[in-house]
Amino acid sequence: MDKEMIQHLIDTALAQRKYSYTPYSGFKVGAALLAQNGAVYTGCNIENAAYGPSNCAERTAIFKAVSEGMRDFLAICVVGGLEEGIQDMCPPCGVCRQVMLEFCNEDFQIILATDRENYEIHTLGELVPMGFKL
Ligand code: THU
Repeated sequence: MDKEMIQHLIDTALAQRKYSYTPYSGFKVGAALLAQNGAVYTGCNIENAAYGPSNCAERTAIFKAVSEGMRDFLAICVVGGLEEGIQDMCPPCGVCRQVMLEFCNEDFQIILATDRENYEIHTLGELVPMGFKL
C-alpha cells in the first residue's frame, strides 16, 4: 500500500471520530476499512447504557461492509483516544480481532496511527497468532 493510501485511511479514520457516541467512556475511536475493490467503509464506536451492547469502531466498519455484500478486505486504519486528542496507538480489542479473523487472511494490514505522519502497520497474523477459525 502506498503512503498516499495510508494517509487517506488515517484522515478518514480521524474524521470518523466525530461521530463516536461515547457518553460513558469518552474514548473516541474511528476506523477506515479498505476493501479489495478500493471502497472504504467507515466506523466509529457506539456505546450503550447497558455497556455490553456497545460496539467498537472496527466492528462497526466491518459489519457495515459485510451487510452491503463486501467480504474482501485489505486493510483497516484505527485511531482512538480521549475526546481532546490522540496520545497513543489504539490496537483493536480481542473481540474485533476475532471478527477480523472471520473475514480477513493473515496478511490483512492493521494501521495504527496517532496522526497522518505517525503510524505503524501490523498484520492480522501478528496480532492474532494461532487464531481460532472453523
Ligand atoms: N474501542 C474501540 O472502538 N476500538 C478499539 O480498538 C478499542 C476500544 C471502544 C470501545 C469503547 O466504546 C471505548 O473504546 C472504550 O473502551
